[in-house]
Amino acid sequence: MQSPFPGGLLIVFDGIDGVGKTTQSALTAQLFGERGIRCAYSKEPTSGPWGTKLRESAKAGRLSPEDELEYFLKDRQEHVENTIRPTLEAGGVVVLDRYYFSTAAYQGIRGFDFWEIIERNEAFAPRPDLFFLLDLDPAGGLDRIRKRGDTPNAFENEDALTAAREMFLKAKDLECCQLVDAARPMTEVAADIRTALFAAAEAKGVKI
Ligand code: TYD
Repeated sequence: MQSPFPGGLLIVFDGIDGVGKTTQSALTAQLFGERGIRCAYSKEPTSGPWGTKLRESAKAGRLSPEDELEYFLKDRQEHVENTIRPTLEAGGVVVLDRYYFSTAAYQGIRGFDFWEIIERNEAFAPRPDLFFLLDLDPAGGLDRIRKRGDTPNAFENEDALTAAREMFLKAKDLECCQLVDAARPMTEVAADIRTALFAAAEAKGVKI
């Protein structure tokens, strides 16, 4: 389902852990904010009840694949209902740090079919206007996680991230997907993202 909201713009940053999603999504939200454009900046898993359970499980021991998938879907349903859809309907911009491509990639590794997960999500979650797939070799991602002083969680070991990267890349040919080489300096990546953002906004008639 292409984002059906005429004035709204849904922009998603996704990819493996440590790839720079948070930095680039924050810069993007800032860009809209500076221009006085209504922008909801949000992340998944959310801080709602399902998202909280999922974060706890990443530390305490993972849920079964079925429960984990179900919790991510429930978390996203709430997110769509409470934040994403209302903002888009009001003609605003939504910038997301992770979305259903993460479910397709990470829960895909646990045995579910990548495209089936996408389909289950798109039954209720609008497809982004622009999906930045930040791509990086997992060793580089883990390096960044450690450099920012974090300890990699249960989702974050090199084998899992290598598998997740391969999964994410299945989405690279979607029309909304912009594959970004995230191994480059942060400013270069940000410049590319800006260019793509302006083009997407213009195509949708959103002034930035
Ligand atoms: P993350 O963005 O790293 O959250 P935090 O910054 O709070 O640590 O997300 C936590 C983990 O959840 C991450 O390793 C990827 C995983 N994840 C999934 O497995 N499926 C999903 O649908 C999403 C959104 C995240």
